Amino acid sequence: MPRSLSGRSFLKLLDFSTEEIQYLLELAKDFKRLKRAGTPHKYLAGKNIVLLFEKTSTRTRCSFEVAGNDLGMGVTYLDPGSSQMGKKESLEDTAKVLGRMFDGIEYRGFDQQIVEDLAKHAGVPVWNGLTTDFHPTQMLADVLTIEEHFGHYKGLTMVFMGDARNNVANSLMVVSAKLGINFVACGPKDNMPEKKLVDTCKKIAKENGCTITLTEDVKKGTKNADVIYTDIWVSMGEPDEIWEQRIKLLSPYQVNDAVMKNANPGAIFLHCLPSFHDLETTIGADIYKKFGLPEMEVTDKVFRSPQSKVFDEAENRMHTIKAVMYATLK
Ligand code: CP
Ligand code: NVA
Repeated sequence: MPRSLSGRSFLKLLDFSTEEIQYLLELAKDFKRLKRAGTPHKYLAGKNIVLLFEKTSTRTRCSFEVAGNDLGMGVTYLDPGSSQMGKKESLEDTAKVLGRMFDGIEYRGFDQQIVEDLAKHAGVPVWNGLTTDFHPTQMLADVLTIEEHFGHYKGLTMVFMGDARNNVANSLMVVSAKLGINFVACGPKDNMPEKKLVDTCKKIAKENGCTITLTEDVKKGTKNADVIYTDIWVSMGEPDEIWEQRIKLLSPYQVNDAVMKNANPGAIFLHCLPSFHDLETTIGADIYKKFGLPEMEVTDKVFRSPQSKVFDEAENRMHTIKAVMYATLK
């Protein structure tokens, strides 16, 4: 049992020990059981939280809102246009004001330094709901989904395909190293995680008996994979002009039948979502018109296949975020 997480912020997984991450996963399982059984769990009644979003969201926002309500808390949502932060009021002043009114603050936005600074000045727990560098609440849901499917996660091999230096890939590499999961970043050499983070993760991985591998080779990279994971090719905050270049660079790393066949027979597919797997989105339709691509980082067939666990994964965002809030606010 780790020391209490009460009063801690949740900014990146590097700040947490293996035991602390395992504790959050156990807590999430308890909350999932309570929710499924319809047992009320308003353990944090009387507290209030604020959700500060400088980028759009479906899963993360809804997870924080539903989890907050289930725990009995008041929840305030501030969208990119409706706070003074950055425009008329400094980050430091905003953090101090919000910290006087709320018991916890969620932030989704740009530089990791922003969420770190919010935590420094707020005086209450701050939770990272995605920055350019990390997306730590996502990984708890991913590992919970893996554990639910395989019955364990230690010793399994997870391969991230595509833009392997984005927030999701970075955080997956960290959580894998911490929990003893072999991690493979499979993508072009210019889209690999930064050397400093790779070196840090390799050291942690060694302590936990697993490996971190970077490869450009799809065949080698996906062989023996238990989990194939991908994410969109252009992340929020990146310019639209970059699509053409990314499509050229990352198309060889699309998750398709050949990739899934090359992985272990029981392999599953995960994606943090949202995903461009068909033409049912405005961006997807636009890319099709410009470049003739009907599906991008994953084929519609793999996305809809029985191997795909993406909706279990999406649901688990809520249970795991509830665990993070409860552990840090109780
Ligand atoms: N996976 C994820 O963070 O989804 P949203 O952008 O919808 O929050
Ligand atoms: N890498 C993606 C993740 C979205 C959940 C982005 O930052 O847009």
